[in-house]
Amino acid sequence: MILNRRDMLLGTMASVLVPRPAVSKTSGITLRPAPMSVQWPGRTGALAGFLGFNGSLPGPEIRVKQGDRLRVRLENGLDDGALVHWHGIRVPNRMDGVSILTQEVVPPGEAFDYEFSPPDAGTYWYHSHYLSYEQVGRGLFGPLIVEEKNPPEVDHDITAILADFRMTPAGEFDTDFGVMEDFARWGRLGIALRVFLSQSSVRLGDRVRLRLINAAIDRVFPLDLNGINGSVVALDGMPLAQPTALEPMTIAPGQRVDIIGTVISDVSISTSDGDSLRQIGRISMKGTNPTPGSELIQPLPAHGLPTPIRPGQSLKLVMRGGEGDPDHGGFGTWSFNGVSGLPMEPLGQFRWGDTAEITLSNPTAFDHGIHLHGHHFREVLGSGPFGPWRDTLLVKAGEDRKIACVFDNPGRWLLHCHMLSHSADGMATWVEVT
Ligand code: C2O
Ligand code: CU
Repeated sequence: MILNRRDMLLGTMASVLVPRPAVSKTSGITLRPAPMSVQWPGRTGALAGFLGFNGSLPGPEIRVKQGDRLRVRLENGLDDGALVHWHGIRVPNRMDGVSILTQEVVPPGEAFDYEFSPPDAGTYWYHSHYLSYEQVGRGLFGPLIVEEKNPPEVDHDITAILADFRMTPAGEFDTDFGVMEDFARWGRLGIALRVFLSQSSVRLGDRVRLRLINAAIDRVFPLDLNGINGSVVALDGMPLAQPTALEPMTIAPGQRVDIIGTVISDVSISTSDGDSLRQIGRISMKGTNPTPGSELIQPLPAHGLPTPIRPGQSLKLVMRGGEGDPDHGGFGTWSFNGVSGLPMEPLGQFRWGDTAEITLSNPTAFDHGIHLHGHHFREVLGSGPFGPWRDTLLVKAGEDRKIACVFDNPGRWLLHCHMLSHSADGMATWVEVT
């Protein structure tokens, strides 16, 4: 890992390079989660307490072409269980990496072989799905990029992974996970905000594709991007039918945003921190592109998923719990429909190809980012149009949102809050497609 000390500000800001390419296209690769120490910007000496895949934080970028076979051997180098989930990828159910629902937890020293062909091009990521609030919080996450068969032409394809880490007053990595005040409120938020970038410089006039991934366990990033004149072309890996203007955006844990545009100055990635903007990442401009291409931004090739019209079932998911809502019925801090943690019975049972809508009702005092495994869905906006395709939807405190989905991937699929501290303490259920 290369630390870009030049980019440091206030001791907490730094652009850190994502190791790349540690993984070749298509062939078999091994991911080995294990404890590691990390060089930390602004500090001499490594910090202990992190976990990494193959000794790197974040894990190595996996890149495949759409439709290619991906074989990944998980070799557990932890002294605890391990599982890997391929967030957003429509994998066969037994490859989904979810304990109880799809596979046994892999014990220390043992291995599991994942194998699938990602059907959709886009920006995805992989992460631990065992004690994920802690294992992801310690660093077990990495980018998974599925390239289009004919990718849009760009000079640079840059991955930017957002995360935050909590430090102790002495400047050590705070390894005290599972604190009740975190679970019951906004989750474990760290003051050390990071953007892990796959590249640290570009040229004026270069055409770039920027793939933003929020790998933080609980933090929602309100994000401002400067230095690129461009458009948003995909959300959660799914192409937008029409690219939309690049404006300040909000990225909830688990969500992704793809941007294509032209470099007009140093690129800065900032998040709002109360009233002020705080720069958390930067790609510096070095030189000028002598032959800049056209600035026209075309939509990415459509993926052809069926639009969820005429739902057969209407379900409701009521989120309850957290500080201020102690009598919600669940045994944990949080519940879905009065149950904390995975219920015996699924929230919904569908026949292959059924369309259903699910109202996501959030009367709690906190925001929740709801993630469905194995599928993509669209938000139902009134009686009119659908929102963009997503796999994770942020439902703010007090909101009711409705999603519709064609359940066409057989198996048992998790539906949970991707604020991983909330999920750990109750906000998880599942659906079954037969
Ligand atoms: Cu990205 Cu069940 O998670
Ligand atoms: Cu939540």
